[in-house]
Amino acid sequence: MAISPEAITQAAISSFSQSDNPRLKQIMQSLVKHLHAFAQETKLTEAEWMAGIQFLTATGHKCDDVRQEFILLSDTLGLSMLLVAMHDGAQSGATEATVLGPFHTPDAPAIASGSDLSNSAPGEPLYVTGSVSSADGKPLAHARIDVWQADAEGLYDVQRGELSGHRRARGLIESDAEGNFSFWTVLPEAYPVPTDGPVGQMLVANGRHPWRPAHIHFLIEAKGYQPLVTHIFREGDRYLDTDVVFGVRPSLVGKFMPHTRGAAPDGREMAVDYWSMNYAFRLQAI
Ligand code: BEZ
Ligand code: FE
Repeated sequence: MAISPEAITQAAISSFSQSDNPRLKQIMQSLVKHLHAFAQETKLTEAEWMAGIQFLTATGHKCDDVRQEFILLSDTLGLSMLLVAMHDGAQSGATEATVLGPFHTPDAPAIASGSDLSNSAPGEPLYVTGSVSSADGKPLAHARIDVWQADAEGLYDVQRGELSGHRRARGLIESDAEGNFSFWTVLPEAYPVPTDGPVGQMLVANGRHPWRPAHIHFLIEAKGYQPLVTHIFREGDRYLDTDVVFGVRPSLVGKFMPHTRGAAPDGREMAVDYWSMNYAFRLQAI
């Protein structure tokens, strides 16, 4: 007698029942259950699954030391952001988290608060001021603020082969005794995620665009508080509602104010028009 599809699913789920790792067993059994339900729901053919296997194989082949196509796949399927949102402890007034992304580096240059981290990155000048406090408003002195962003051409320093190790539009700043910090940088612009691999082909095949709205990344750490991984997005960006990695949260959209040339708030004499942006970050206690 032919084995029924339901019996195959049950047998595959049961094959993990002897596992002595309860969490692994739960994950594997649930994975099999949902994978089989997906195949049943879509009436997946063998040829379609072979195309899927070829896609996953190409995704693996695209990975190297600096390119992680599987993370990009997870990002563009919304899984990375789902996990961030599921485990975000921002219920009590803390700043919401979003995806880390692939362009963070552990070697951002330390800069004094108030100075310029652009390091000749192309773009219009932007003066960022901010504060770091606990979720209930207590200022946090000596917080470590790791900042990175794309420039006016939508590129991170690490994407420019010609810079090889030269860091720009990224820096490490410390908050002062009142929890405040500031820096000069360049206005970030929207940029497409890398599209020269299978994930790019998947986006094209499905009529999806590859763009992320303009943003600045922040990783903020303070003793006794959960590290905050987030971005501040540019209000009005055309991709805010359709971010290719689903990372936008309304509370993270910042006001970027245009200013005409002249004296900036920190006394710097600006020969060109510039922008400013202020954001109050609130960290969740551990
Ligand atoms: C980023 O914002 O840097 C990013 C996040 C996810 C995928 C690609 C880029
Ligand atoms: Fe980014």
